[in-house]
Amino acid sequence: MVLGRLAMFVALFASQLGNAAVVKRSELFDGGECGEEAHAALRLAFHDAIGFSTSGTGGGADGSILAFNSTELAYVIRFESRTTSIDDIIARQWPVFTKTNLTAGDFLHLAAAVGVANCPGSPQLPYSFGHSVTDILARMADAGFVAAEVVWLLASHSIGDANKIDPSIPGTPFDSCVNTLSHCSDTQFFLEVLLQGTAFPGNGGQSGEVLSPLAGEMRLQSDFAFSQDSRTACFWQEAVNAQSFIMGKFEAAMAKMQLLGQSGLTDCSDVIPVPATFTNNIQYPASFNQSNVQIACTTTPFPSLATVAGPAPTVSPVPQS
Ligand code: HEM
Repeated sequence: MVLGRLAMFVALFASQLGNAAVVKRSELFDGGECGEEAHAALRLAFHDAIGFSTSGTGGGADGSILAFNSTELAYVIRFESRTTSIDDIIARQWPVFTKTNLTAGDFLHLAAAVGVANCPGSPQLPYSFGHSVTDILARMADAGFVAAEVVWLLASHSIGDANKIDPSIPGTPFDSCVNTLSHCSDTQFFLEVLLQGTAFPGNGGQSGEVLSPLAGEMRLQSDFAFSQDSRTACFWQEAVNAQSFIMGKFEAAMAKMQLLGQSGLTDCSDVIPVPATFTNNIQYPASFNQSNVQIACTTTPFPSLATVAGPAPTVSPVPQS
């Protein structure tokens, strides 16, 4: 049965992702036959992938038709003059997709392959997992960055917050180390992306967002994918509570990024103010401990961390300038 298999596959990949997301049988592919929803999922996979062009434009089989359906459907209309069943299957898949923590590309092409497997006489379609990490790493490699450097650059998200992913909650931070004015540039972000997600901070699950562990905190789907992918998980874990290590790596990767395509510049770094230091060990937010960590790096032990006392915190938004 299609949905039974989908649930199994999603559970499999969810467990690879350290995520307890469960897709209920009643949620997709009604009845689990080789029916409307199964073949609509297959057609969706085609329209998603065929956005690719050998001229170098278009993201191809990246799930964008699901993630950015309001804009991408316009291209389908131009191509086929109608979107019938595409918009239906997007509407059906969307609420299931947002619960899984999978990327749109991973989810959409998984659904198509599992759907086809319910049709007698079909081949067992191949399925490749890891769409967004693969796409980002490929783009970054093209600019000269290896996987570790991408993770180190993402230390930037420790001082970031989201305004556009969910416009109903502007200034929503990616970690809990914020006060009424600003973020701190520490490794709390790398820890909290690994904690089991339980809720969305604002208006339900938005494209690019997955469940976060703390009220008021936003978790980017791409950050979570990097924390769990076999190519990057150990670099991610290595960053947890490694303040001076990450400071050095982030600085070096930023220096490399800022010089991309440039030559003949004069080093004027001495005009940059010296930042205040951060020397504390990071800690689990109150009520969390290592049992809540979705450990994806199996080659090194997870660092031992204390837990802040008290009830689970609610992270405050960073005020807009
Ligand atoms: C590698 C892939 C990356 C992805 C997929 C990504 C994605 C995102 C997204 C979706 C947001 C939230 C935007 C919003 O809702 O307003 C964001 C915010 C941010 N990102 Fe990234 N990012 C990446 C890499 C980077 C890098 C390399 C840097 C800097 C070195 C960076 C710096 C920031 C900052 C500072 C913010 C906060 C912006 C704000 O508060 O307005 N990101 N990122």
